[in-house]
Amino acid sequence: MTTTLPLPRSVQWNDTHITLLNQQALPLSIEYLELQTLEDVWDAIKTLKVRGAPAIGITAAFGLALAASRYEEDNIDAFKARLNKERDYLANSRPTAVNLFWALDRMVGSIQEVTSVNEAKTTLVHEAICIQVEDEEVCYSIGNYALSLLNKQDSVMTICNAGSIATAYYGTALAPFHLSIEKEIPLKVYACETRPVLQGSRLTAWELQQSGVDVTLITDNMAAHTIKTKGIKAIIVGADRIAANGDTANKIGTYGLALLAKSFEIPFYVAAPLSTFDPAIESGAEIPIEERAAEEITHLNGSRIAPEGISVYNPAFDVTPNELITAIITEKGILKGNYKQEIQKLFPQQ
Ligand code: MRU
Repeated sequence: MTTTLPLPRSVQWNDTHITLLNQQALPLSIEYLELQTLEDVWDAIKTLKVRGAPAIGITAAFGLALAASRYEEDNIDAFKARLNKERDYLANSRPTAVNLFWALDRMVGSIQEVTSVNEAKTTLVHEAICIQVEDEEVCYSIGNYALSLLNKQDSVMTICNAGSIATAYYGTALAPFHLSIEKEIPLKVYACETRPVLQGSRLTAWELQQSGVDVTLITDNMAAHTIKTKGIKAIIVGADRIAANGDTANKIGTYGLALLAKSFEIPFYVAAPLSTFDPAIESGAEIPIEERAAEEITHLNGSRIAPEGISVYNPAFDVTPNELITAIITEKGILKGNYKQEIQKLFPQQ
């Protein structure tokens, strides 16, 4: 696996604190925060200083390891009880991306058989590091599978930021573009700006520029016209939660792009790791959709752009029904056809 891309890492473990790339400050400044407490971690997730499903999970895992490293309980049962409480606190930060719960539950599960507090503390740090290291490998694999679906010189559209900074490294939907630079397979990317909080223009445009990808920024309402006039060959997006039938929650606007892909008869791909699947829920109807503050829509950079007193609806995600998805690209391969069957093969115990 190569790591020659000029991309920063969004989350780094430092024993006494977590170093976090502040995604709210990008692209104007590359600023790192020191997260010292569980409250710092909760706030960073809630306020989108770290965002993107896998990066949220990794940060929460390190947050739990950091908090637990300071527990003064010397009884293992009391230690585990406190860890469970703090797991629930972090789980309350954002509701949609299942990676958050997946990572927190994996952390709690890692010490179930442990009988001493010291061993529990080292096990938790080790588990969080494993979650991060594995995610980088997983993203590299997703990137290679995704690249196999694209041809040299293709123009491809994406939304939000399912990039390196949303994961341990490489990204999911953006991984093929980063790898295309290393493999010298030129591709052209059209990035939707992604209202309301502009992960497309602030993060994807910046991230792809960093690695030298040919990226063009458009506003979200330019998607149909751009597909038609620029000959877009495929749309690729990330995911926050994939149900047992393949229905996929991702950034608001994704569903609209899937409908456009159908209308223009171009493939619509979802790129996501197995940690983003929620085989316990049957369909997308069961995915909780986060609604965020009205100010994300009524204000831009702190300035009001809508009338005082206006009613606002601000869902952060939408659900794309499985029948609109051409393929789901995972680290284990490319899923197509009957998603329910394909997903069941990956999660046989469910
Ligand atoms: O609100 P965000 O920025 O956390 O939403 C992120 C997305 O919708 C991403 O596409 C998804 O988490 C995949 S990131 C690899």
